[in-house]
Amino acid sequence: MVRPRLLVVSMSLPVTAKRTGEETWSFTMSPGGLVSALLGLKEFETKWIGWPGVDVHDAVGKKALSIALAEKGCIPVFLEEVCDQYYNGYCNNILWPIFHYLGTPPEYRNDVIITYQSQYDAYKKANRIFFDVVNEHYQEGDVVWCHDYHVMLLPQYLKEYNSKMKVGWFLHTPFPSSEMYKTLPSRSELLRSVLTADLVGFHTYDFARHFVNACMCILGTEATSEGVVDQGKLTRVAVFPIGIEPERFINTSKLSEVTEYMKKFKSDFGGRKLILGVDRLDTIKGIPHKYQAFEKFLEENEDWRGKVLLLQIAVPTRNGIGEYQKIKDQCHGLVGRINGRFGSISSVPIIHLDCSIHFHQLCALYAITDVLLVTSLRDGMNLFAGAGQSLGAGALLVNPWNVKEVSNAIGEALSMSREEKEKKHQINFQYVKTHSTQQWADDFMNKLNEVTSKAEQET
Ligand code: UDP
Ligand code: G6P
Repeated sequence: MVRPRLLVVSMSLPVTAKRTGEETWSFTMSPGGLVSALLGLKEFETKWIGWPGVDVHDAVGKKALSIALAEKGCIPVFLEEVCDQYYNGYCNNILWPIFHYLGTPPEYRNDVIITYQSQYDAYKKANRIFFDVVNEHYQEGDVVWCHDYHVMLLPQYLKEYNSKMKVGWFLHTPFPSSEMYKTLPSRSELLRSVLTADLVGFHTYDFARHFVNACMCILGTEATSEGVVDQGKLTRVAVFPIGIEPERFINTSKLSEVTEYMKKFKSDFGGRKLILGVDRLDTIKGIPHKYQAFEKFLEENEDWRGKVLLLQIAVPTRNGIGEYQKIKDQCHGLVGRINGRFGSISSVPIIHLDCSIHFHQLCALYAITDVLLVTSLRDGMNLFAGAGQSLGAGALLVNPWNVKEVSNAIGEALSMSREEKEKKHQINFQYVKTHSTQQWADDFMNKLNEVTSKAEQET
C-alpha cells in the first residue's frame, strides 16, 4: 500500500535546540507525551513541523539550524516576538488550564480584555506562521496532521487556502465539558476552525462527547453517530486512544548498560521498596497530592518507615509561567518537611529530582520499580494516568484528591503478592503491546483516508 507523505505539525519539535556556536547547534529530546508518542511513527514518510524551543534572530543561525534539523526530518517554525504571548500566554496560561478544569488564572479576571485580546492576537499570528511553513513544504497528496491545542486555527487557515488538502486534527489533552469550555472568549472561532478539518480525534469517548456537546451548545450544530453537522457539512469526530512504542522499551531494557543501571540503582536504594513517579512538574500532575498521600502512608504505617523510597523525576517545564514556578517551591517545601519528619542519618523517604533523565536510566527505573504512582488530577492519555481507564484491572485506580485513599492504595500495592502482581502485569502488558503508537497512527490515517476518499467520490 502506498502511504501518503505525512506533515506532522505540533508546537514543539521532538528535539529542543541549543546554540553552541554561530552555525552550530546541539539537540536534546523535548519533554512530554506528545513527543514520546509521535517518535514511535516508523511506517510513514514524515516531516515534522514545529518550534525548535529557542528564539533565533539572525539569518545565519536560522539557516544553520534548518539544515541541522532537516537531517532529523524536522522543519523549524520561528515564532520570534509572538512566542511568549502565544506559548506562555494563550496556550499554556489560558487554554491549558481551561482544558484541564483549572479555570481561568486569577490575573485574567482583573485584566480580562487587554490580556485575552493581546494573547489571542499572538495565537492567531502564530497559527498563521505555522500555516506559512506548512504551505511552503506542502506537496499535492500530503496529509497534514495537526496536533494539540496550540494549532486549533490551523485547519481553517489550511482549508481556506486549499480545500483539497487532507487535514486531521488530534487533541492530546482532555476536551473539557462545555460548561468549562464556555468560559473561553474565543470559544466559537476555535470550534469552527477545528470543524474544517476532515477528521477530529480525541483520546477518549468522554473528550469526544464533550467536544460534540460544546459544538451543539455554542454553535448550534447537530450531532450524528459519525460526528458534527454544521450547516449541512459533516465533520468526522472519532476516538483513538494513544499508546507507547513497546519495542523501544523492551529492546532498551535488554541493553547491558541498562541492566548495569538496574543493578546499581537496586544497590543504591539499599534493598528498600521503590515507588516511582515520572511527570513534568505541571500543576495538573498532582505531585503535591502524591507527597501528602505518601506522608499519610508513613504516618500510619510505622513498620514501613525506612523500608520504602519514593523517587520522583520532576521534569522541568514551562518555566516562564508563574504557576509552574510556584509548584516547584511547593514541592520542595513538602519534600523537606516529609524527609525531616521521617528521614534518618542514613536515608530519606523521598528523592525529588528537578530534571529529566536519560532514556536508558528511565528504562532501568521502570524495570525495577515496585510501584508506579500516578496522581494526575486531570490528564489526557497521560502515557500512564490516562491509561488507567484502559488498563482497568491491571492497575489500582485511585481518586488523587483523596489522600487517604491514595495512602491505602500505596499500602496495598507494596504488600501485593507476587502472583497478583504477575496477573496484573500480564493484563497491562497485553494491552500495551496491542495498543501501540503505530497502531494509533494507522487507525487515525486509515480513518482519514476513508473520510477523504468518500468526500472525493461525492464531489
Ligand atoms: N519521559 C522521558 N524522560 C524523562 C521523563 C519522562 O522520556 O526524563 C517520558 C515518559 O516516559 C513519558 C513522557 O515523557 O513517555 C511523559 O508523557 P505523559 O503522557 O506522561 O505526560 P505529558 O508530559 O505529555 O503531560
Ligand atoms: C502535553 C501537551 C503537549 C506538550 C507536552 C509538553 O503533553 O499535550 O502538546 O508538548 O505536554 O509540554 P511543552 O509545553 O513542554 O511542550
